[in-house]
Amino acid sequence: MDGGTVRVGLVGCGGVAGWHAGNLGGIAGVEIAGLADPNDESVRRIKAAVPALAGVPAFGSAEELYAAVALDAVEINTPHTLHHGQVLEALDHGLHVLCEKPMACSPEDARAIADRAALGDRLMTVSYQRRVDPAYSYLRRVVASGELGEIQTASVTVGQNWKSLTAGSWRQDPSLSGGGMLMDSGSHLVEALLALTGQPVAAVAATVDDAGSPVDINATALVRFAGGAQGQITVIGDLATVWIERVLVSGTGGVLVYETDPQHPWRTGRVQHYRDGTVIQPLGLPAPFPSMDAAWIAAIRGTAENPAPAEIGVAVADLTDAIYRAARTGQVVEPTAAVLAD
Ligand SMILES: NC(=O)c1ccc[n+]([C@@H]2O[C@H](COP(=O)([O-])OP(=O)(O)OC[C@H]3O[C@@H](n4cnc5c(N)ncnc54)[C@H](O)[C@@H]3O)[C@@H](O)[C@H]2O)c1
Repeated sequence: MDGGTVRVGLVGCGGVAGWHAGNLGGIAGVEIAGLADPNDESVRRIKAAVPALAGVPAFGSAEELYAAVALDAVEINTPHTLHHGQVLEALDHGLHVLCEKPMACSPEDARAIADRAALGDRLMTVSYQRRVDPAYSYLRRVVASGELGEIQTASVTVGQNWKSLTAGSWRQDPSLSGGGMLMDSGSHLVEALLALTGQPVAAVAATVDDAGSPVDINATALVRFAGGAQGQITVIGDLATVWIERVLVSGTGGVLVYETDPQHPWRTGRVQHYRDGTVIQPLGLPAPFPSMDAAWIAAIRGTAENPAPAEIGVAVADLTDAIYRAARTGQVVEPTAAVLAD
């Protein structure tokens, strides 16, 4: 790295890339050195929204970007089915990668990324920002500390007006999205469910509904974890309001409840922690990092752990795939991870 500066490229310059660019702009010693997007309008919009990008060179593809600009790292912000090829390409160019969720749309593609990342010394991180969210960090910390005792159940719900919001976009084109709301926003809650039990998945039953769309809109799954915990995930893609997210984790030593406020859907919600008949509502929760980008850059610099390594992307791809298979077959299914790891 040149004098400590981390030179980052953005592949995909649409909606989420603007958010990432803003986050990166707030980190000392980070320079956005190049952009890649086949859509000139996306480049025009991100440059208009983030004035610091005005003079940054833009290219029609990642390949052209990598050929023209010396980079240390890249953020991949493209439609889902492109992630697998683009992450492998970036790792082959010796770049640290922050890939938007989902890392890949199948367990096989996810496994290939994790195996490739394990061969090198570049960081592969999935942009699951709940890994750095103050409330989710509190929930994970309490579970990991053992304070909740043996985890009995974990249930997560996410609801959004996703169906109307994404109508006509790549998100409802399976060849680019790899799936619907479960593959998109649902992916964050699949990650949360896995993190909050800390156990591998043993079996899954599910029902999925496309609500007249080309992709899944609503999904509910029951999960048996290898350590004995039971899990449940509900994904509502045609919610009659903007956004809601709920978590309930019960253990032999307490209960954690988390809920966002639909009136303020983008804010971190409220945690309630029940133990010994008392309820603690932690306030002023510390944020481990102000953004996923900041956590990733710290990990690149060796001052923090990788906040969401590729193996998390593999576990999410595996459970997501099991939910789709269980719904399609009407059977209780096992995840494919163990088979792929052989
Ligand atoms: N972490 C989060 O909370 C969050 C929020 C929104 C989106 N996302 C994720 O970010 C990714 C992008 O979503 P978005 O909302 O920004 O979508 P978007 O449609 O706004 O932007 C996608 C961009 O990718 C570009 N693109 C398409 N093919 C490309 C290619 N081959 N090379 C380079 N660029 C290409 C498109 O032209 C477009 O500008 C998705 O994985 C999505 O799930 C994550």
